[in-house]
Amino acid sequence: MADQQSEVSATEIAVHWQEEEYYEAPASFVAQANLTDPTVYERFSLENFPNYYREFGEMLDWYKPWDTLLDSTNPPFWRWFVGGELNASYNCIDRHLEKNKNKTALYFVPESEHDPIEAITYQELFVRVNELAAYLRDSIGLRRGDRVTVHMPMVAELAVTMLACARLGVIHSVVFGGFSAQACADRVVDSGSTVLITMDGYWRDGKWLDHKEKADQAAALVHEAGRELEKVLIFERHPGEYRSSFSVVDGRDIVVNDVIGQYKGKRVDPERMKAEDTLFLMYTSGSTGKPKAAQHSTGGYLSYVTAMSKYILDVKPTDVYWCMADIGWITGHSFIVYGPLSLGASSIIYEGVPTYPDAGRPWRLAEQMDINIFHTSPTAIRSLRKVGPDEPAKYNYHFKLMVTVGEPIEPDVWRWYYNVVGKREAAVVDTYWQTENGGFLCSTVPALKPMKPGSAGPGVPGIHPVIYDDEGNEIPPGTGKGGNICIRNPWPGSMLGIWGDPDRYVATYYSRYCKDRNSKDWRDWPYFAGDGAMLAADGYFRILGRIDDVINVAGHRLGTKEIESATLKVSGVAEAAVVAAHDEIKGISPEIFVSLQPGVSPSDELGQQIVDSVVREIGPIARPRKVWLVPDLPKTRSGKIMRRVLASISNDSDVGDVTSLANPEIVEAIREMVQR
Ligand code: WTA
Repeated sequence: MADQQSEVSATEIAVHWQEEEYYEAPASFVAQANLTDPTVYERFSLENFPNYYREFGEMLDWYKPWDTLLDSTNPPFWRWFVGGELNASYNCIDRHLEKNKNKTALYFVPESEHDPIEAITYQELFVRVNELAAYLRDSIGLRRGDRVTVHMPMVAELAVTMLACARLGVIHSVVFGGFSAQACADRVVDSGSTVLITMDGYWRDGKWLDHKEKADQAAALVHEAGRELEKVLIFERHPGEYRSSFSVVDGRDIVVNDVIGQYKGKRVDPERMKAEDTLFLMYTSGSTGKPKAAQHSTGGYLSYVTAMSKYILDVKPTDVYWCMADIGWITGHSFIVYGPLSLGASSIIYEGVPTYPDAGRPWRLAEQMDINIFHTSPTAIRSLRKVGPDEPAKYNYHFKLMVTVGEPIEPDVWRWYYNVVGKREAAVVDTYWQTENGGFLCSTVPALKPMKPGSAGPGVPGIHPVIYDDEGNEIPPGTGKGGNICIRNPWPGSMLGIWGDPDRYVATYYSRYCKDRNSKDWRDWPYFAGDGAMLAADGYFRILGRIDDVINVAGHRLGTKEIESATLKVSGVAEAAVVAAHDEIKGISPEIFVSLQPGVSPSDELGQQIVDSVVREIGPIARPRKVWLVPDLPKTRSGKIMRRVLASISNDSDVGDVTSLANPEIVEAIREMVQR
């Protein structure tokens, strides 16, 4: 723990909000809600574990029912619905055709308001997914168990690609479109993909971004790493027009739009996948430099996101649902694609930024499409409030439910969301969870528990969270003391493991509070989330932030080590320390403290080179707010960089006692630079 304490953590700079008053869900919401049975919490009590999860499995269509609900004989490698067989693409598409083939499955909303919105019915989705699956199988030779990296913007073709992979049992690994070529290449190599699926370009904030360039760079980087991208498949953003200035490389690249016509009318029987077969990989930052892939299952994951979409997001087949997240993150996988489609709802994929061409865009779209469920992050809410605080009132839309996810939401921001965006007509759920979890850990059930601004709420039905102190003692409710949030029980949405690294999976999530390494009893293996949290007397959890060296920038997880290693690539840099600084819009933004090699003098150019390197290596989301070129970094006598001290300086808070450092005088020098 000594080590962890010397790292900066988001918890340390967390705002200590007051306890807030409750808000009741509107009666109009409760009257129509999917889950109104107050006995659900009893039914989902720990005594009934794991049997209550049968209900989740029963929400899906199975080729073969499961024999064993939970196989926990090899902790912490939990396996759900063992013996069962199903296909995710079948559950998200085919099973809706009989009754709802003419209903819209996906709306694609281009960023430009001059371009038409595309409505894709379940039947049309069925056709497109089958034709693409046939192409991927018969021409590209992809087979069950192969991995494919997908680096695409927010377009319908991305969801079609994921579902086509799922139909074949091919494991998709979607990389956020805004990530760099380097990040894409690292994920290609780690997952062992030989095929990359991409797009020529896309529209963002009114500008055309040439995306194909990243594929070329990624292919070169993969080659340098001793692997090969054998095929690069390119969708055209405007079908029939190849708009990238980077040419199609002979033998490697194929424009999908040119060849897909040959598969017209082709149908592909969905593969009968085992429940515990991998559906997809999703990379996320951890506490070491290298991003790791959470490996999600077919049966457990799909049942979990289906149940969470139904009970917490209150999704019904009649709803028009807009989640503004990117499909390249777990939120988009679970709550744009798999959850809503499994329930037969209409889900919106919006290409661009929320404030294009102006801050009224989301509300105009809500009015035009009659959206009734809206899902976004505190960062987006903060920025929409800043640039257009009065915009929502100008549009005639009515949300029944609104969601926030990804970061703690300030009570003040919450109230704007509830009063102004929701017009006091909508229930709000603050959903706490992680890439590794598949779906929600904490949230209110909207028709059963009141909302409390700034608190996610209790564990969702079936999830039993607990807060431990550093010694492993349980911190009871209502003490006002923070600790480490853990989950007592396994759940079906939990990842199968870390791709290719079982030891890291055990070490990161299960070793911290494991009571007995030899135990075969799941009760001895609480899941360690890596977040600080507080539990109020009413059983609501308030999440304080990461306790490891991960920072949460605008709801995106970044490893401080990843940013530091991008900084160290710049010549002249000796050492670098990244800290989490409070930011009005992004919640947290990285600042980098850099010491230079002897003989190198600080300059604006050098600062700029560091910014450029971070953007190039990781992507614009990691762009530091500030790079401080300092004479030296504060260190302990054993040579450890004191990031906590630097974070206090960046956040204008007390640096504490620094007299025991090896170089205490440097603290004052840096403080003068930063707080001038
Ligand atoms: C943070 C996103 C406060 C938390 C789904 C977690 C939250 C990390 C909330 C996971 C919330 C997520 N309130 N903090 N409602 N939701 N977080 O993997 O620190 O991108 O560990 O998954 O975001 O981020 P990830």
